Amino acid sequence: MELNEMILQITTDIRDKHPKLLQFLNDNTVTIPYQEHPTITLEILTAQYDSLQNIVRNYKLNGIENIQWENALNMPFIDVTVMEHKNAYQNLLTKINSLSVSYHDVGEGTIPIIFLHGFPFDKSMWKSQLDDLKSKFRLIAIDFRGFGQSTDEKTVLSMDLLGLDLIAFMDKLNIPKAIVCGLSMGGYVALNVVQKFPERFKALILCDTQCNADTPEGRAKRYATIEEINSAGPAAFNESFIKGVFHPNSFIDKNEVVEDLRNVVIGNTKKVITSGLEALATRSETCSGLKNIRIPTLIICGDEDQITPVAKSKAMQEQIQGAELKIIEQAGHVSNLEQPKQFNMHVSNFLNRLINSF
Ligand code: MLT
Repeated sequence: MELNEMILQITTDIRDKHPKLLQFLNDNTVTIPYQEHPTITLEILTAQYDSLQNIVRNYKLNGIENIQWENALNMPFIDVTVMEHKNAYQNLLTKINSLSVSYHDVGEGTIPIIFLHGFPFDKSMWKSQLDDLKSKFRLIAIDFRGFGQSTDEKTVLSMDLLGLDLIAFMDKLNIPKAIVCGLSMGGYVALNVVQKFPERFKALILCDTQCNADTPEGRAKRYATIEEINSAGPAAFNESFIKGVFHPNSFIDKNEVVEDLRNVVIGNTKKVITSGLEALATRSETCSGLKNIRIPTLIICGDEDQITPVAKSKAMQEQIQGAELKIIEQAGHVSNLEQPKQFNMHVSNFLNRLINSF
């Protein structure tokens, strides 16, 4: 039997037969690859298997209260889900309190760039940025709680909560400072955290986003949509949303990109869509704090973004000291997906200048 199958078997056994032990292990989980072990090797798998056998033996002999954590392990417990997903696109999982956060972590660098997706998308929207830029920088893309493969908590979503999750995630991964890059809702969260936790961020990239809260009409429209989704399901919302985010040309020459995003959108639970819409409707403005932002800022916007038009980006640029603005041609609201070459070039130029100055 392959080692990873043996590990899967022993882990499944723990899950099925020893729920207390499972809880204990979950509270002590680390994910790999991690800094000291950038890849999963045979040696790590063997250590992992041995440690699991030790833990089970120790547990059966002494019970959960008496497990000697240090003696039981020669290697921290690795959540098996991490290994199941690993072959995809560095699809890692880490636990923050009771929440499992799914993320990609590629490339190397002292200051990582953390990518935050828009609504109702997930981290897969950053694939081409990660592919293109990973040879030069460390890039992390996370799924916000409830989206993609991050667990769906019963909590009510808000920009504040998603911001706190990001800070907890950085703490968990020992990242004292990062560069944050957010698109649309990801930008709302990025603006929230750089204003609340300025000491944790070295630079800011805002893509197809705005600092404004919803207008009363916009808010009423979101609540009407929530009601509609609750009574008739999310299909109509999903379709009209997809129509609104792309440049018209993207439906002609970027079919695959449109289809990939459509699959992400229709894969959402009804709960996360309605809860996300409510979070967007109730978010606070961040415009009044822009003048206090003191970190290098790049603003990017598709020339035909209908959801957060270029005027919103220009208004932010005027308020943030030294901010640069780059307009992406032939792009709507998801400019990184529609014109990855232009988008990546601007991000790469900005990061190169910045990293050289640290
Ligand atoms: C997004 O892309 O995150 C949303 O369109 C943001 C919004 O609707 O305000």
